[in-house]
Amino acid sequence: MTVDISTKYLGLRLPNPLVASASPLTGKLETLLQLEEAGAAAAVLPSLFEEQIEHDSWAVHDLYEYGSAISPEAFGGYVPEMESYNTGPEHYLELLEQAKEKLEIPVIASLNGMSPGGWTKYARYMEEAGADALELNVYRVATDVNMTGGEIEQSYIDLVSDVKGSIGIPLAVKISPYFSSLASMARRLIEAGADGLVLFNRFYQPDINLEELKVKPDIVLSSPVNLRLPLRWTAILSGRINGSLAASSGVHTGEDVVKLVLAGADVTQMASALLKYGPSHLATVLFEMESWFAEHDYTSLEQGKGSLSQAHSADPESFERTNYMRSLVSYSSRY
Ligand SMILES: Cc1cc2nc3c(=O)[nH]c(=O)nc-3n(C[C@H](O)[C@H](O)[C@H](O)COP(=O)(O)O)c2cc1C
Repeated sequence: MTVDISTKYLGLRLPNPLVASASPLTGKLETLLQLEEAGAAAAVLPSLFEEQIEHDSWAVHDLYEYGSAISPEAFGGYVPEMESYNTGPEHYLELLEQAKEKLEIPVIASLNGMSPGGWTKYARYMEEAGADALELNVYRVATDVNMTGGEIEQSYIDLVSDVKGSIGIPLAVKISPYFSSLASMARRLIEAGADGLVLFNRFYQPDINLEELKVKPDIVLSSPVNLRLPLRWTAILSGRINGSLAASSGVHTGEDVVKLVLAGADVTQMASALLKYGPSHLATVLFEMESWFAEHDYTSLEQGKGSLSQAHSADPESFERTNYMRSLVSYSSRY
């Protein structure tokens, strides 16, 4: 039996719920084509960073004012390093245009920043270069001891309104789970103009190199256990906010995708598993997911979507506090 696995995300009709998440694999035409070939329904390009855009406009400003470009060292040297990751502001739009020309699937551009400002005008350039949607990756580690949670949350809202005001394409906001009231924040982000949320970006926690006595930034790829966090919050938010939900973190297998769809995800995003096993792994995940729905007599993905969300669950407390107690009891009863 064939199953209709199409879905709708940010108003885009997609043939399946597998989206290639922002990663180095989506930063090159060659790997983007491989992801499309493997069945990706859409791809999110790597993020362009607020600091890179600010740096570029400063460089131009400085050139006009003083006749020389500002030194990269003034930015701690990290801006040029970033250019090898995402091509930099100048070439980002070229990559986007080429991707739009060569790929048939929707291409989602990504901006990473944390404060409203002139840099957000770049969102419009991305739209003009053909982006089908924009993902705003708000990556803010709140370290200021004088800044309250309320102020930080408001800066998210201002940023989202700012970006949404300058574009006509759909906007997804990729957030972290670190809010004191994530559910309320999710609702406010949608009300501020987001058409959907991506749950969640991972905050990369630096390590310490004991040999060199230095802080060591390094990315650890996710493992399937990381799925639990987006799984829980997708289930809690599904049906409760007026926007699309994309689940990101720990999606490695077809069963992971099934779980997230049953929890209420419109799409799932993958980065680590594709980096680990290569773009063709997406085809395996797609096959596993489709087989699961067929074997369990679903005629469409929509039929199962959100059936295990908190709102629809026969056991809504499973997502909340009582489940914590139940989990402890079930673990200790094994001993
Ligand atoms: C090497 C690497 C680069 C990434 N670059 C970006 C990025 O530019 N923008 C972004 O929003 N997320 C970025 N991410 C995060 C992923 O898109 C994804 O949200 C996260 O890794 C969780 O999904 P996963 O468990 O499938 O890896 C990156 C992840 C990795 C591993």
